[in-house]
Amino acid sequence: KSAYTVSSKSFTAVAINTAAKAGEWIKSKLGDYNNLDLKYSSHDLVTEVDKGSEKMIRNLLMTHIPHHSFLGEEGVEAGPEASAEALKEVRDDEYLWIVDPLDGTTNFVHGFPYYAVSIALAHKGEIIVGVVYDPTRDELFVAEKGKGAYVKGKRMTVSQELKLSEGLIATGFPVDQKVNLPCNLAGIQAVAPKVRNIRTAGAAALHLAYVAAGRLTGFWEIGLHAWDIAAGSLLVQEAGGRITDTAGKPYTLEARSVIATNGSIHGELQTVLADAKATGL
Ligand code: IPD
Ligand code: CA
Ligand code: CA
Ligand code: CA
Repeated sequence: KSAYTVSSKSFTAVAINTAAKAGEWIKSKLGDYNNLDLKYSSHDLVTEVDKGSEKMIRNLLMTHIPHHSFLGEEGVEAGPEASAEALKEVRDDEYLWIVDPLDGTTNFVHGFPYYAVSIALAHKGEIIVGVVYDPTRDELFVAEKGKGAYVKGKRMTVSQELKLSEGLIATGFPVDQKVNLPCNLAGIQAVAPKVRNIRTAGAAALHLAYVAAGRLTGFWEIGLHAWDIAAGSLLVQEAGGRITDTAGKPYTLEARSVIATNGSIHGELQTVLADAKATGL
């Protein structure tokens, strides 16, 4: 029995089952929920479904593995200081689950079918399992450290484009608009003329999964949190891609910005963002 198993089930299997159950439940709630609340700003929505999904995920994980630590978006007070504090407390624990119970809440609220459940497991601060589940398309993206990345059981590799000018690039609008929007717009203005086109579909974890699957050449966003990026970071790396922050530093749990690409266009995208002063730093 390896260190990564619990009562004959691997941690990866636990993550997959949990993400699938939560995702199915979220989908069943589309158009059938109330209690829409605001968190940090009028751009930052939360519903009882976000909270219910997190509770379900936490319960499922903790039944299997009660001694593991847990960091979930809805268990942390809104705002950058509180999330940095919460991460600090658990980041070096032996096993830490990092969970975004519903990535793409605004989409969910509007019935725009692009949202996901994101579950990552870190071992002493390093991600070893990443699962992103899109219930709308029943697509499960999974990666294990050193073992590759898969979608619906099929091996994923990042896309082949060699130049930024051939790229389909995604970004996102951070919920903390007051601080980040000008920077974000400067980035879009600088990147748009240099690429084939830009997409912003509203779920960071799924954008990262799409980079891993080769459906996007790259993705960048500023103002993110550990739960948005953790699972997707392993998907991208295990699919042969590259992930850094907007300054080009290797990914860590503390990252608040991200550039994730097929590798080939990474430097070009980073330079364009830096020249436009759009790194959010
Ligand atoms: C948000 C989504 C969105 C991104 C925001 C995130 P949430 O996560 O990933 O695409 O632009 O920065 O906060 O709140 O829907 O889980
Ligand atoms: Ca949120
Ligand atoms: Ca999120
Ligand atoms: Ca969320």
